[in-house]
Amino acid sequence: MISLPAQSIQNQRKWVLSAVGAFLTFGLVFYAHNLYTTMEKPLPHHSIYAETSQPGAIPKDLPGLISELWKPMLHNVNDTTFVTDEGYKYDIPKKAHRWTKPLGKKLLILDVDTRLDLGPGALLNEDPLRQDNVTGRTGGWLDHYLYAMIHGYDYRLVRAPEYPDRHGTWVKVPMIKEALKTHDFVVFLDADAVFMYPHMPFEWLMSLWNISPSTLMAISEDPDSKRNRDANGWVMWNTGFIVAQQSNRTQELFDIWEKCPTGERYPDCRRWAKDWAHEQAAFSNHVRYDYKDSDDVRVIPCMDGNGAPYIGDKKCGGVFVRHHWFHKDWPIRNLREGILDMFVKRLHGHFHSKKQDYFIDANKKKYPLEGMQI
Ligand SMILES: *[C@@H]1O[C@H](CO)[C@@H](O)[C@H](O)[C@H]1NC(C)=O
Ligand SMILES: *[C@@H]1O[C@H](CO)[C@@H](O)[C@H](O)[C@H]1NC(C)=O
Ligand SMILES: *[C@@H]1O[C@H](CO)[C@@H](O)[C@H](O)[C@H]1NC(C)=O
Repeated sequence: MISLPAQSIQNQRKWVLSAVGAFLTFGLVFYAHNLYTTMEKPLPHHSIYAETSQPGAIPKDLPGLISELWKPMLHNVNDTTFVTDEGYKYDIPKKAHRWTKPLGKKLLILDVDTRLDLGPGALLNEDPLRQDNVTGRTGGWLDHYLYAMIHGYDYRLVRAPEYPDRHGTWVKVPMIKEALKTHDFVVFLDADAVFMYPHMPFEWLMSLWNISPSTLMAISEDPDSKRNRDANGWVMWNTGFIVAQQSNRTQELFDIWEKCPTGERYPDCRRWAKDWAHEQAAFSNHVRYDYKDSDDVRVIPCMDGNGAPYIGDKKCGGVFVRHHWFHKDWPIRNLREGILDMFVKRLHGHFHSKKQDYFIDANKKKYPLEGMQI
C-alpha cells in the first residue's frame, strides 16, 4: 500500500494490463450479452450473478447501459448490513432515518474547479482519451461521473468564477449553495476523493450516517493531528466530501459560511480568505459553533468518509469515500479497478449461468470420447 517506487512501476504495469483486460472484456461481454440474452435464465441461488436483461432490452445509451451492467451487483438499500472488502461489518443504526426510495436526479454529484485544463489527459480536452494518459483529476471526476450513471443520479462539473480576494478552494461553498436551488441533495467531492464501492447506493450511506430529512449538511472529520485542530483544539472537519440537503436553513448556513471572511459576523474569520485551510478553517473555527445540533450538521466518521488505509491515522481508512491527498493520481487506479471488478464478476457470473453450455467434464472418459460431443 505504501508507495515504493519499484512497486509503483509494477502497479502501473498492472494497471495497463488491467485496462487492456477491461477493454477486451467489455467487447466480449457485450458480444456474449447480445448473443445470449434470449436464452438466459437467472441463477436462483446466486442472485448477484444473475443476468437481468430481458430479450432485446440492451440499452443503447451509455447511462442506461452502465446502470444495467451494475444492476445485478447493487447493494440493496433495504439491507441493514454491509461487510467491506477489509471485513468491517457496518450496520445501519436502529434509530436512523431510512432512505429506501431511489433519489434519482434529485441527487446531484458535484465537481467544481476554477481551472480550465485542456492539456493531455484532461477531461475537457476533446482529443480521444486513452486510459493510460488520464490525469489524476480526470480519474477522480470520471469516478464520480460513473457513480452517478450507475445509480441514475445527476452530475455536473462546474467551472466556477474565481474570487478576486480569496483562495480558489473557497468556490465550493457558493457552488453547493447554488446547486441546492435545483437539487434536493448535493454531494460534493474533491477531485482526489473517490467512491470505494461503486455498487453502493448513496441512499444506503445516508441511512448509515443517519442523515435525516431535517439534516442541513453532513461532513467528514479530519484525522486528529495538531495541524488539523481549530483554535479551541477541536479536530477540523474536511470539506473534501460534503453532503448538503436543500432547505431554507441550509441556504442560510451556506450564506453565513460564504460571508465568513468578510468579518461581519466573525471578525477573526478574515484571515481564512487566504490562509490555509481556507473555507475548511472558516467552517471549523466559526460556522460550526453556530450549528452545534448534530441533526443540523452531521459528522461522518473519518473512517468512513475521509483518509486512506495508507495514512498514519488508522481511524481514517477511507472505507466508503477515500481521499488521496498524497497520491493525486491514485483515483485513476480506483476508476480502473472499479470497472474491471464489475466486468470480472459479470463474466464469471455469465459463465456460471451458462455452465451447461461451456463446461464439459470429460475426466472420467477414455480416448476417443465415446458418446460425448464437445
Ligand atoms: C425497499 O423497500 C421498499 C419498501 O418496502 C420497497 O418499495 C423497495 O422496492 C425496496 N427496494 C429494493 C431495492 O428492494
Ligand atoms: C495523451 O498523451 C499523449 C502523449 O503524452 C498526448 O500526445 C495526447 O494529446 C494525450 N491525449 C489526451 C487526450 O490528452
Ligand atoms: C423558505 O423561504 C421562502 C422565501 O423566504 C418562503 O417563501 C418559504 O415559505 C420558506 N419555506 C419554508 C419551508 O419555510
